[in-house]
Amino acid sequence: MNPTLVSSPPSPAQAARQAFAADLQRALARRPRAISPKYFYDEAGSRLFEQICELPEYYPTRTELALLRAHAPDMAAQFGPRVQLVEYGAGALRKVRLLLDALPRERVQFVPLDISGPHLLAASAALAADYPGLALQPLVADFTRPHMLPAVPPGVRRVGFFPGSSIGNFTPDEADAFLRLAARELAGGGLLIGLDLVKDPAVLHAAYNDAAGVTAAFNLNLLAHARRELGAEFPPDGFVHLAFYNPAYQRIEMHLRACRALEMQLGGERYAFDEGETLHTENSHKYTVAGFQAQAARAGFRPGRVWTDARSWFALMWLEA
Ligand code: AVJ
Repeated sequence: MNPTLVSSPPSPAQAARQAFAADLQRALARRPRAISPKYFYDEAGSRLFEQICELPEYYPTRTELALLRAHAPDMAAQFGPRVQLVEYGAGALRKVRLLLDALPRERVQFVPLDISGPHLLAASAALAADYPGLALQPLVADFTRPHMLPAVPPGVRRVGFFPGSSIGNFTPDEADAFLRLAARELAGGGLLIGLDLVKDPAVLHAAYNDAAGVTAAFNLNLLAHARRELGAEFPPDGFVHLAFYNPAYQRIEMHLRACRALEMQLGGERYAFDEGETLHTENSHKYTVAGFQAQAARAGFRPGRVWTDARSWFALMWLEA
C-alpha cells in the first residue's frame, strides 16, 4: 500500500495555504502575471476592505445601502409571500438585514453561503441574535459551484441575493457560468443583484485610488499575505499600487507594479520582475443596465425592475428565474 494514502488529510487552513502557494507560483511563472483577488481576503485584508467601504471616494457600498433602505419593501414585493432567501458570498451579513426587515419573519428562510466557515458562522450567530425566530441555515460553500441548497416546499420561492457588485470580479465567462448556475437553482424564483455602473472614469479612478491610501494598502496586502503565509521574499518597497479604468473591457484593473528591477522568491524559485512589470491582482467590471439585462437574459433570466440612485452610479436589479 502506498504510505502517502494513509497520511491524515490537510486541515482547511493547510489546504488553503497550499492552494495559495500553487496559484501564486503559477501566476508568477506566466505572462501576463495575474492572480485571483480572493487572496486579498486574509484577516488583515478583510479589515482593509471594511475600511474601503467607509471611504468618501468609495461610493458603491453606501449607494447600495441607500437603495436597500429606500426600496426594500418594493424589492420584497417581487419575491412573493414565502421565500427561501439565498445570499451568495455572504460576508458580514449587513445588507441582507434591510431585506429581512421588509419580510415577515415567519415567511422567510435565510441561507447565507460563504466559503469561509469561521467567518460565516460568526456572522450568522450575530444575525440570529438580532433576528430571533428567523429560520437560518448557513452553508459553507463555494458559490461558483453547484450547491446542496435545502429543498423548498411547495409554495415557497427560492430567491438569490448577490449584492456589492461582487459579480464584477468575475471574467465575462465566469459571470456567465455563475448566472446560468443561479438561473437553474433559482428556477421559479429570482435573483436580486447589485451592479456598479459605467460612469465618468474620474469617479471610478478616485474610488480605487483614495487619498488615504487604503486601497493601496489593500492591494499591497496580497504580498504581505504571501510573506506571512508562504514565506515569500521580496524587497519591502519594491512594489506600488496601480489602479486604472480600462475602457475596452469596462473595468477597473488593479496591479502591483515593480518600481525597479527586482526578484521575488517563493518555494525555492526566483521570479524576476523588470522595472514596471506588474502582477495583475483584480478586475472590477462595470455594467450598463441594458448590457447586464441582455447577459442575464442569455443565461435564462427574465429582467424585471431596476432600482438606481439619482446619479445612476449603482443599480439593484430584479431578475426572474
Ligand atoms: C468587493 C469586488 C466589489 O470591485 O469594488 C474595492 C473590491 N477592490 N476596492 C470592488 C475592491 C478595490 C470590490 N468588490
